[in-house]
This record gives sequence, C-alpha cells and structure tokens, in this order.
Amino acid sequence: MARLVFRQADGRAVEVVAKPGMSVMEAAVQAGVEGIIGECGGSLSCATCHVHVDPAWFPRLPAYAPHEEDMLDMAMAPPTAQSRLACQIEVTEALDGLILVVPA
Ligand code: FES
Repeated sequence: MARLVFRQADGRAVEVVAKPGMSVMEAAVQAGVEGIIGECGGSLSCATCHVHVDPAWFPRLPAYAPHEEDMLDMAMAPPTAQSRLACQIEVTEALDGLILVVPA
C-alpha cells in the first residue's frame, strides 16, 4: 500500500491509502478527493485529473506518457513544470508519501 497526500489550494489536505497497480487518479476518485474528476476514466482524453506534484517527488515519477503533455495544455488550470495527469501515474510502494497539489 502507498499513502498519497492530496493538498487543496486552500491548504486542506487528505491522505489516501492506495493499492499498488491502481492509478493515482483512481485512488483519488475512490476517496472522493475534491477537484479530481477522472471524467475519461484514464484514457488520456480529458485532463480532469490534473495535479501538481511536489517538487521533491516530481523526479521520482515515471516519464510522461505519449500525449500527456499535450493533454495537460487542455487542463482548466494552467500547467506548471510539476504538472502531471494523475491517471498516468501508477501507484507503487515506492510512491509511499507522494504529495500532490490539486490545482484551484
Ligand atoms: S482521467 Fe482523463 S486524462 Fe486523466
């Protein structure tokens, strides 16, 4: 299991325990994390799972999926250098403690 911490822009935070193999988006949606919608179910076609990854964690994530950066440009909130689509991040034990910020 891996603990994922989702922070809202207003400072509120929620910790979610996720099973390895699921996506960060699936974990957030199952837990009802505000602002993570996952409208396309993870098929990389909606950008409603946009998150900003804590800078200390960003280099530890897998590389962008093909077209992920293009889809980030379609997100409601402008992407930053730490932006990822949560549906493209697979939960692993190595991500225990991952910190993500949900864009306002
Ligand atoms: S859930 Fe649609 S792009 Fe991630």
